[in-house]
Amino acid sequence: MALAWAMPVDDEANLLAISLYKENFSYELIKRAGEFVLCIPSKEQLPLLWKVGTTSGRKIDKVRQYSIELENGVKSRVPHLKNCLGFIECKVEQELDVSEHAIFLARVLYAAADEKYFDGVWKRKAKPLLHVGSKLFTTLGEFFTPYEKER
Ligand SMILES: Cc1cc2nc3c(=O)[nH]c(=O)nc-3n(C[C@H](O)[C@H](O)[C@H](O)COP(=O)(O)O)c2cc1C
Repeated sequence: MALAWAMPVDDEANLLAISLYKENFSYELIKRAGEFVLCIPSKEQLPLLWKVGTTSGRKIDKVRQYSIELENGVKSRVPHLKNCLGFIECKVEQELDVSEHAIFLARVLYAAADEKYFDGVWKRKAKPLLHVGSKLFTTLGEFFTPYEKER
């Protein structure tokens, strides 16, 4: 699935939270596995993100139908998207029931990112795909800080 509602929960990046509509097939899969992987797509991967975000695994085999290339997880049993900018393997610790939605609080088991684009923070040339809302997307633009040497 495509998921925009994700956030870090602590400073050390040990915990994160995601919010899911419970009718999504992915909700069922995450409940069953107790694990999930967040993949960070590049701007070029928008067509794939749109397809997985507008169709349900309940009706079609998205991996097969969209020729999605997967790689085995490192610490998780859940595979991740090949060629994404980075991925974060997570183990569910708590579920918060929010009516039609659920928030999963999860512990990060393993995280990796392409060194060309990430060295603790995103590099200027990285183009991670970010959801603005509705059918609008953006990526990183201007970087600025008065608080440290310019990167
Ligand atoms: C850009 C984008 C962001 C989305 N973000 C979320 C999200 O944060 N949470 C959610 O429950 N659904 C989100 N969706 C919708 C799911 O990706 C969509 O319902 C998907 O078909 C679910 O697939 P599944 O039934 O195979 O799990 C998003 C869709 C798009 C296109």
